[in-house]
Amino acid sequence: MARQNIYDNETFFGEYRKLREREVNANNLFELPTLFSLLPDLEGKKVLDLGCGSGERCIDYLKKGAASVTGVDISEKMLAVAEAENNDPRITYLKMPMEEIGSIDDVFDVVISSLAFHYVEDFGGVVANVYRLLRDGGIFLFSQEHPLATCYSGKGDRWTRDENGKKLYANIADYCVERRNDSTWFVEGVQRYHRMFSTIVNTLCDAGFRILKMAEPYPTEELVKKYPEYYDLYHKPDFLFVKVVK
Ligand SMILES: C[S@@+](CC[C@H](N)C(=O)[O-])C[C@H]1O[C@@H](n2cnc3c(N)ncnc32)[C@H](O)[C@@H]1O
Repeated sequence: MARQNIYDNETFFGEYRKLREREVNANNLFELPTLFSLLPDLEGKKVLDLGCGSGERCIDYLKKGAASVTGVDISEKMLAVAEAENNDPRITYLKMPMEEIGSIDDVFDVVISSLAFHYVEDFGGVVANVYRLLRDGGIFLFSQEHPLATCYSGKGDRWTRDENGKKLYANIADYCVERRNDSTWFVEGVQRYHRMFSTIVNTLCDAGFRILKMAEPYPTEELVKKYPEYYDLYHKPDFLFVKVVK
């Protein structure tokens, strides 16, 4: 099964780090606040973080009371940052593709994944393993790029605009064609997987999970006044969150 490790690409890694270091970015404005608002009580919990990257969230989960955190990531470069900057005796970082978490011999109270599943082809396989690794009543919370974002193939104009250049609509094509969608983000050929909203939900339900909450973050009016470019998210949310229970 195809498995790209784009975060170990020198150029991609450097540009991604720069983006995340900017104070104003979509992660800090929308993704993180929504993630934190959906977190279950982590007091004394064993947490598994899939696609943990440079480990900032692992530290956040400890600060929110988690007893231990296991962070899994495919990227050596991201994990090197995690080990250097976000280390703690209660955190274990594992360099492994999340497609292989079936080999982990442990049970967790909470599994969280932030913005990594759109890189995974075998979503059903990962979800089945998450179900197996969770205790009964355990929570699985993840964010990913929204299906309205992953379906964009880079062909044609992203937006239909009026005569003044104002964005009127996000252009959508082939939403119902599930596929690997290669795009250019810092470098060419970044592999992301487009799945329909219904496929994501049905995969979770078929694995045995019960849906608790979903979220598609968008800005408040105040935020749009400050950063008008984020009005885009009223047309087309960029992030999807799903919180389920075993
Ligand atoms: C957008 S970053 C998010 C990092 C972190 N969760 C955060 O929110 O700051 C996506 C991460 O997913 C990791 N990743 C991508 N595909 C993966 C896979 N198949 N298995 C494990 N990690 C993967 C990447 O290496 C990268 O660190």
